[in-house]
This record gives sequence, C-alpha cells and structure tokens, in this order.
Amino acid sequence: MITRVALAAVLALSALMATARAEPAPPLYLDPAQPVEARVDDLLGRMTLEEKISLVHGDSKFTTAAIPRLGIPRFWMSDGPHGVRQEMNANDWGAAGHTDDYSTWLPNLLGLAATFDTDLANSYGQTIGAEARARGKQMMLGPAINIQRTPLGGRNFEYLGEDPFLTSRMAVNYIEGEQSQGIASCVKHYACNNQETERNSVDVELDERTLREIYLPGFKAAVKEAHVLGVMAAYNKVRGQYCAQNAYLLKTILKDEWGFKGLVVSDWGAVHDTIQTAENGLDLEMGTGQKLYENYYLANPLLHAIQSGQVPVSALDEMVRRNLRVRFLIHVFDAPTTGPAGSINTKEHHLIARRVADEAMVLLKNDGATLPLDPDKISSIAVIGENASSHFALRGGSAQIKALYEVPPLEGILRRVGAAVNVSYSIGYMQPDRDTDPLPGLIDRAVEAAKQAQVVVIVAGLNHGDNYDEEGSDREDLRLPPGQDELIERVVAANPRTIVVLMSGGAIEMPWLDHVPAVIQAWYPGMEGGNALAGILFGDVNPSGKLSCTFPKKLADSPAHALDAFPGEDGVEHYAEGLLVGYRWFDTKNVEPLFPFGYGLSYTKFDYADLKLTAASGDADATSPVVTVQCQVTNSGARQGAEVVQVYVHADKPALPRPDQELKGFARVDPKAGETRTVSIPLGRGAFSYYDPAKHEWVAEQGTYTIRVGGSSRDIRLQSPFTLATTTVDPE
Ligand code: BGC
Repeated sequence: MITRVALAAVLALSALMATARAEPAPPLYLDPAQPVEARVDDLLGRMTLEEKISLVHGDSKFTTAAIPRLGIPRFWMSDGPHGVRQEMNANDWGAAGHTDDYSTWLPNLLGLAATFDTDLANSYGQTIGAEARARGKQMMLGPAINIQRTPLGGRNFEYLGEDPFLTSRMAVNYIEGEQSQGIASCVKHYACNNQETERNSVDVELDERTLREIYLPGFKAAVKEAHVLGVMAAYNKVRGQYCAQNAYLLKTILKDEWGFKGLVVSDWGAVHDTIQTAENGLDLEMGTGQKLYENYYLANPLLHAIQSGQVPVSALDEMVRRNLRVRFLIHVFDAPTTGPAGSINTKEHHLIARRVADEAMVLLKNDGATLPLDPDKISSIAVIGENASSHFALRGGSAQIKALYEVPPLEGILRRVGAAVNVSYSIGYMQPDRDTDPLPGLIDRAVEAAKQAQVVVIVAGLNHGDNYDEEGSDREDLRLPPGQDELIERVVAANPRTIVVLMSGGAIEMPWLDHVPAVIQAWYPGMEGGNALAGILFGDVNPSGKLSCTFPKKLADSPAHALDAFPGEDGVEHYAEGLLVGYRWFDTKNVEPLFPFGYGLSYTKFDYADLKLTAASGDADATSPVVTVQCQVTNSGARQGAEVVQVYVHADKPALPRPDQELKGFARVDPKAGETRTVSIPLGRGAFSYYDPAKHEWVAEQGTYTIRVGGSSRDIRLQSPFTLATTTVDPE
C-alpha cells in the first residue's frame, strides 16, 4: 500500500514535470476574456514600426496586409451598400471572375428609405452582414447616407433621401442589423459629398447650422446610437480642406465631440498629403493612385516622416489602435466559432429583397382605380420598354452587385399571369448607352402593340449608367432619356389604359402625367423587383412606399438650382439654400412640387382622427420623450394596407429662422379593412431643437409649436399646438 508521504512526493514530481513541459502562456491579446482595450494595447506593444505602418494603408484594392508573426490576418473590405460586391482584382478595378461570389441584391437605399420601415432596414443590414460573413469580409463599405441636395446627384440612388431624420433612423437600423452579424459597417461618405460633379476636388462652403442640422445628423446617429465601427472620409473638400485630412470633421466633431472609437478610412483615392492626413484624424488610406502600395501617403512617406520626427509615433499608434480595436470588436482574433456563422443567398435573404421591393415601390398616381389589375378580367397586356427586360444589378459604380439572379419586370409579369394572358413585348426605346444605332420604328411598333392589348405597362426610366444614376457623374436634367416621353405620349394616346412604371434613383419630370392614369415609382428594385412589381400591378401587394425625396415639377424649382448654387464656381460650391434642402425649401417657399416628400398612394384609404398630445411629466433627459403624439388611423377601404404616419414639427415663433416644418417622427401601421389602430409616436426634445452656431449647442426653445400629423408632407390630416414650457440646451 502506498503511503501518504509517497503519494505526496509522486504528485509533487508530476506537477514539476508538467510545469517543465508547459507551453508559454498565450499572449494577453489572444485571450478573449481580457478587455478589448487591454488586448489592443498588448498587441500594439508587440508591433514594430514597420508592422504598424503596414496596417494603415492598403496592400490591394480592398485589403490591408496580414502580419503572420503576430497572427494578424488580412483585413477584407467590400462594397456596399446593396449587397456584397463581387470579388475584384487585387490591383485594378476589373472583376476577378470568380464563380462563388454571387450574392443577394437588395433594392437601392433610396428605395429602402421609401419603406419608412426601420425593422426592415435592420433586416436589410442583417442580410448583408450575414452574406459578408459568409464571403469572409470584415468591413462592409456602407451604408451610404449623404443627403440628397440636388435631384441630379449621380449617387442619390444609393443614399437614404433628402431628410436627416429619416436618414438617421434608417441608417441606425441598417448598421445595427449589419453589425449584429459580426461585421463592421463603414458609413459613408463623410461629409457633404452631395454631388459627383468634380467630386474629387469640389470645395463645399456651408454655414455651421446647415452642416449640423442637415448634413451631419445621419453620421452622428450612426456613431452615437448604432456605434458604427467605420466611417469613410469623402473625396471632396469642406471649407478648404479635403475630408480625408479635415481636422474639423475628423478630430473635432467625429472623434472629440461624438466620441467615435472606430476607424476612419479614406474613400478610395481621397488622400492627398502625408503629414496632414496623419495629423488630422484619418486611420486608413485606401485606393490611392500609386502602382506600389509602399508609395501610398501612409506607407513609406509616413515611415520617413516618423523617422525624421515630423510626425510623432503617438499619431501612428492612435491610428493602429483604432484599426486593431475594430478587429477585436468583430472577433478577428477569436475562435472562428465566435460570432454568427454567416450565410449567403438563402431563401430568407431573397425574401427580404422581395419585401423591401414590395414596400419601397411608390404608387404616384392611380386615377379611376386603374390599378390593381384583375388577372381574371384581362386577356392581353402589352409590356413596353427596354427597362422591362434590362438587368441592373451590375450597374451604378461601386454599388454594383453580381446578383445570383434578377427578375426583370417582364419576367415578373409573365410568371404572375401564366399562360392564360397574352403578353406581348416591344422594346419601345433604347437607352443611350447602347452600342447599336437606335432602331427606326420602335415607337410605331410599340404603339401597334398597345392598340392590340387591353392594358399597357410601359417600363420607362434611366439606365443606371453614365449620366443616369451612376457613380462619377450627375444627371444633366430630370428628363427621361431621349425617346421615352414621346413613346409614352403616343402609347397612351393609342391606349388610354396605360400604366407607367419608372425605374430611377430619383425624381423624373413627367410632361405626360396628365394623360397617364397610373404611375409607379419602382426605383432599382433588386433581384426580386419584377416579382414585386407584378404583385403590385395585380393587387397581391398593396403599395405602401412613400417618397424619400421630393419630385419637383421642374429642376429649376429645386433649391440648389433655383439659387443657381450647383455645381459651384471655380471649384467652390456655396450651399446657398442653407437649411432649405428638399421639402424644407418647397414648404417654406410655397413651391408646388410634382409629388411631395412622404407621398404615396395605396389601394385602400386611411382616415386619421383623435390627435392627442401627452406631455411627459418631470425632467426629461436629452433622449427621453417630452411629448407623445397619438392618433387613430382607420383603414376605411376594402383591403389591408400599410400607412406611414408622419409627424412634422413647425415652430410658431422661432428665435432663428427655421424651415416651415421638419419630419421628427413616423410609424408604419397596417390595419386590416375596417380596422382602427392607435399610433403613438414619441418626440424627444431633439424634435424641437436647432443648432445655435454662436453657442455651439442644441437649443430646444421654450414656446409654441404646431405638431402636424399626416400621410405626406403635404397631406396633413391633424394638427395641434404644443407648448414647450422651458428652454433646454444640449451639447453636440
Ligand atoms: C466610392 C466608395 C467605394 C469605394 C470602393 C469609391 O469610388 O466612392 O463609395 O466604397 O470606391 O469601391
């Protein structure tokens, strides 16, 4: 029998041997139980100067370098913002030609904004996040949230419209959804990148209130509410300094005032100087036009600037710290099983694409209940227009998507009606970017087809190419491309039962509007667009989209154009309209739009009643409601539908001039036929405040306001005065 002493000796010996064999303890930064900041500091402390430099500039079009010695993998970014872009060549803008990079293509962001559906924005973000994860990405370059200042903006299609409040709500939900999937979002383009004309050099001059009240709220909400991990600095200048080296935007506002902890990446090729960039708050340089990555401003030139003492190493450390922090927060160093697994092209993702398209399309006109069509009563349809059969996914610039599939309108209609209905198709017009010469007789043939059919669906619009909703150029005017207005006029003269569907990333002038009974704004509706359109045409889906931007009667009615403040002079653009962007201009100046912001019809009717304002008792903080707006919405029609109830605030006697009204709350409700729903929309004091440029603070001024509630900015159904008892002041 073994004695106790002997047992103790054996145990002690084996413990000693185990210690001798033990691996060195893993470094602190690899321990997921440690706080992120401790892990960042630990890893930073192990890096050489050259390794640090390698993390603050690209080593291919969409990556930064790996550091195998420390187990730091390559960091993969991808566009953004309507899905995960196809794989690109490492060193040029060509497609890499992979076969496993098809993804879900969601409707464009201006369309998403038209849903006014924040839950859906979250699902949208989640979908992209899950696909990015499945594709091995770490940061998605989106959402894009620049405010639509001019309807000509070539990238308006990928932004969330003209209103800062709507933009903020949708962006926050998109980012929360995307980042829930273990992906960093990168909100772009910060800031005032509101046009494509001379985007690489234009210098934006604007007053402080306009900057804070119109152009920054979306970014601020992304940082402070959604805790976005990435911000992309824009190409243009603001007040004389390029955005990627703009101390006021990056250091003062983004990092100091808002407390942003993530990384600031330049837009691709937006860096112009080593010292200014290093000093003024950029953390990662991408896309610079240099053949060798070591020649990027934040590569060898930065190394030399540090070695010669021009830039302190602490500035580089801060940049690297932010790059590392983002990696830790998305679990780059943790076991691959940490965080969501990712998935791509699932049935659910395609259903999200469909739902967004269903909710995004806006019924602009529907005289005499032209829509919905009754498939049992229709034996023939003439579908007309190149856009009825075009594929749009791979267009528009960096927002392009290699969609797994795309259902164009013609296909959607064919699938929906089946063999019982005779569907003819004529092209009617050809988009201007076609290589082929325009074919003579296209309109004549379309008119003949229209005469033969009971109903006509013309799918008109832009081509999502050069000068027509594409990155790099703005539109020249708001007209449809050549031939389409004439086509519409002649077809509707031949067959008055003509429905016009517009595919575009924004407003179109409609000289034919009085003659056409029904018009649908379909945006660029994603891979399920044709199915969604057919669903709306035949009443399977009740349209509920509301315009996320004003449609002016003519370009000259829009603020920047009315004031001749676009596209700038001698490289400088003064935002002369100030706060009066979009409907703020039309409503304050009493200009009648073609279709107002927030507008969209339904196949049912909604009645509004019983507006009640309940003031909160006690001291509210900056985020708690000061008043709850409540009303009853009754679906008084014959079918279920969804209404977006919008709350606009009007200041009766403001100390500083204010727009006539501003959107400060909204809610979607979908009562069944005959049903009444109670809608409650809380307003915080932010709903009443303006930015006081003298004091650099937000002031919610004591006084009377009018709370307006309705189905669009020009369809106010209920209103009531509200008194703010005391003035409150909040810092930025
Ligand atoms: C665009 C960005 C995009 C980047 C990378 C730039 O031209 O402005 O939105 O993320 O390219 O493709």
